[in-house]
Amino acid sequence: MDQLVRALLLLFLVQLPASFDAPSGDGGGWGLGSSIEDEGECNIEIRDVNSITHTQFIKEYAYAKPVILRGLTDNTNFRFLCSKSNLLREYGGKTVRLSTANTHSYRKVDVQFEEFLKFLLTPQPEDTLGSDTLYFFGDNNFTEWHSLFEEYKAPPFSLPLMLPAYSFGIAGPGTGVPFHWHGPGYSEVIYGRKRWFLYPPDDAPEFHPNHTTLSWVSLSYPNLELHQRPLECTIRPGEVLYFPDRWWHATLNLDTSVFISTFLG
Ligand SMILES: *[C@@H]1O[C@H](CO)[C@@H](O)[C@H](O)[C@H]1NC(C)=O
Ligand SMILES: *[C@@H]1O[C@H](CO)[C@@H](O)[C@H](O)[C@H]1NC(C)=O
Repeated sequence: MDQLVRALLLLFLVQLPASFDAPSGDGGGWGLGSSIEDEGECNIEIRDVNSITHTQFIKEYAYAKPVILRGLTDNTNFRFLCSKSNLLREYGGKTVRLSTANTHSYRKVDVQFEEFLKFLLTPQPEDTLGSDTLYFFGDNNFTEWHSLFEEYKAPPFSLPLMLPAYSFGIAGPGTGVPFHWHGPGYSEVIYGRKRWFLYPPDDAPEFHPNHTTLSWVSLSYPNLELHQRPLECTIRPGEVLYFPDRWWHATLNLDTSVFISTFLG
């Protein structure tokens, strides 16, 4: 390469500001280093926003079965604010509350958000117990994080008499919550991919409450009979998964993921 061109290129590179964020479509600086390849199959219905109305959503899915809604909201701006450099700059010094990733979350630990990003946001080894895994999800301080969450555009299909509550999280590849259930809600990934497993309320899967989803996927899932197989799909940015009341579900983050759930209650 010509010396001058090389010098100019170098000048251009070193002059990029520290907080430079590549255009959308990148990973927001969250890195894809230890991603899990296997996305599994997708046997959950997927509806494009243009192919479904609120009334149809209520009639066909709200009380009946999970669905993935595509293109519901445009969270480009929220995604931009959730880049690693932005979050570190805005919230690095704040205290966040982590909890263990077992079915009945027991332990809670408070750490500085910066410490969490630097030391705890690591890939999940397969033999770790869910009860030993610290997970940043929920327990969000909506006073301190207000200016971030007010930029989030929640799925617009509401359920009658139900109000939304948000839960924001960040987790490394291989992490996820084991099977549990609660009220209806939505889940969206802002960065990364999240694999979902669901069973109807009356069809509880077999699992150990202290074991991670990763160990369930590698040890139990391959031995399931056809009729024992879950509903499953891997969701990506731009897709929102809806789960009805009391459906069993477990999740597995395939990449370092930034995600937000909207619980309806
Ligand atoms: C949330 O943050 C505010 C402001 O820093 C603080 O006063 C409050 O105690 C925090 N709430 C919890 C539950 O930690
Ligand atoms: C799960 O882990 C918790 C905390 O370590 C422990 O108290 C509990 O007995 C464990 N449950 C089972 C079923 O092993």
